[in-house]
Amino acid sequence: MILDGREVPVPPGASILETARAAGTTIPTLCHHPALPPDGSCRVCLVEIDGRPGLHPACVVPAHADLVVRTDSPPVQAARRHVIRLGLGDYRPGLGKTHNELLTLAARYNVAPPAAAPGRTASVDESNPFIRVDHGACIRC
Ligand code: FES
Repeated sequence: MILDGREVPVPPGASILETARAAGTTIPTLCHHPALPPDGSCRVCLVEIDGRPGLHPACVVPAHADLVVRTDSPPVQAARRHVIRLGLGDYRPGLGKTHNELLTLAARYNVAPPAAAPGRTASVDESNPFIRVDHGACIRC
């Protein structure tokens, strides 16, 4: 596969995201987790693929040797900024005191939270002794 102008090997059955990571190229993600099936919900991992109109989520598109992929072109960067801006529109200050990937990406892509972000008032579900669910921190994956 040609990735940002460089020929890289495609591991068997790998997605574009997995191929890029194996080749040392970082594509940002929010909803992707290697232990879960790919969902393609957050759209932060969008990339350009020659011959295919629009942008495509790298985490769900299978890689193959014939693909020519751009992971950081101006249209990709613009789309990522838009997706991050949408995520920040629901951002509730105070979340992620230890690590917040959305804020990390916002800083990397120079996206500020909206001045009048309303924040969410969603509840926290602590009914399970092992899992705490803060719906206000949801990235809609
Ligand atoms: Fe690919 Fe979320 S990481 S869509």
